[in-house]
Amino acid sequence: MNIIQTIDLTKRYKINNIAIDALQNVNLTIEEGEFVAINGPSGSGKSTLLHMLGCIDRPTSGKIYINNTDTSTLSSKALAKLRLRQLGFVFQQFHLLPTLTAFENVELPMREAGVPGKERRERTESLLESVGLGSRTRHIPSQLSGGEQQRVAIARALANRPAIVFADEPTGELDSVTGERILDIFESINRESLQTIIIVSHDKSVTSRAHRVIHLKDGRIVQ
Ligand SMILES: Nc1ncnc2c1ncn2[C@@H]1O[C@H](COP(=O)(O)OP(=O)(O)OP(=O)(O)O)[C@@H](O)[C@H]1O
Ligand SMILES: [Mg+2]
Repeated sequence: MNIIQTIDLTKRYKINNIAIDALQNVNLTIEEGEFVAINGPSGSGKSTLLHMLGCIDRPTSGKIYINNTDTSTLSSKALAKLRLRQLGFVFQQFHLLPTLTAFENVELPMREAGVPGKERRERTESLLESVGLGSRTRHIPSQLSGGEQQRVAIARALANRPAIVFADEPTGELDSVTGERILDIFESINRESLQTIIIVSHDKSVTSRAHRVIHLKDGRIVQ
């Protein structure tokens, strides 16, 4: 079954009357349970594509279907609900809340989804443990290294067991051993719970684990 389908997906940014076609007529289908890597040169539209598929931002034209729902028909509220319950997103720049601890950052999406306190705390602890941050739960982001912040962001993205996990260069700040550990987590949730994984990465260890690699160039898919 298709979990994501795009039809002529186009994103044009305009700054001072100068248009940038970040994505042009992207037609893409991703199956439920697929592990997809996206790569391409800097500026080719990878983050833009991830933001569109993850419903963080809306396209200029074209359609995005998630679970056969045309996302352009959804209200902002319905989109927020879809994001909270079904989609997990690891941003290239992490976007952790600076005044919350690692624990609170990971716990927040579960609070918003109404997960009961005990389960929330257990899941938060186990997620932070699994990314190797069991001893950093009370640190706020500014007290963490870049790679540690990235791992908090990964734990947060997995909090509500999303059907689709989007991750933008999730191993970019990590040494190879820690990076492999994170990829093992993605691979195991993909295998065991059939969660669909879409990762932007140039990392060989990501592309070699992926079922399929999508190459972008100048906002278009190339083979
Ligand atoms: N918010 C924005 N406003 C205007 N232009 C933007 C915006 N975001 C991205 N762009 C432009 O769109 C193009 C695609 O950017 P995008 O961030 O998707 O590239 P990328 O493939 O993720 O690059 P990188 O590998 O460097 O992260 C670039 O030319 C960029 O300058
Ligand atoms: Mg990017």
